Amino acid sequence: MPTVTWKLPDGSERKTDVDAGTTIMEAALDNDIPEIIGECGGCLSCATCHVFVDQAWFDKTGQPDEMEEAMLDVTDVPKRATSRLSCQITMSDELDGLILEVPA
Ligand code: FES
Repeated sequence: MPTVTWKLPDGSERKTDVDAGTTIMEAALDNDIPEIIGECGGCLSCATCHVFVDQAWFDKTGQPDEMEEAMLDVTDVPKRATSRLSCQITMSDELDGLILEVPA
């Protein structure tokens, strides 16, 4: 099963199994990852699922589209070049080993 490594705001790391086809936001909620709320359920209207994708993985997760980019302008923690909304990333075998930083 593919795995995701989460770099948490307290400096610790967690590694979780994530089924292919699951969104990263859903995986965060399933695994009690702090700071990821997913208030809108993944319909791209809350920006409470913000993550920083590790630079080495950003090409594989892909760029945010125009709608996602607009929502990244209203995140609590300012966006970075590798920011994504985790509800818009779907786990796949190609993303096995994905590393994400969770904003504080
Ligand atoms: S869960 Fe609301 S934008 Fe991602």
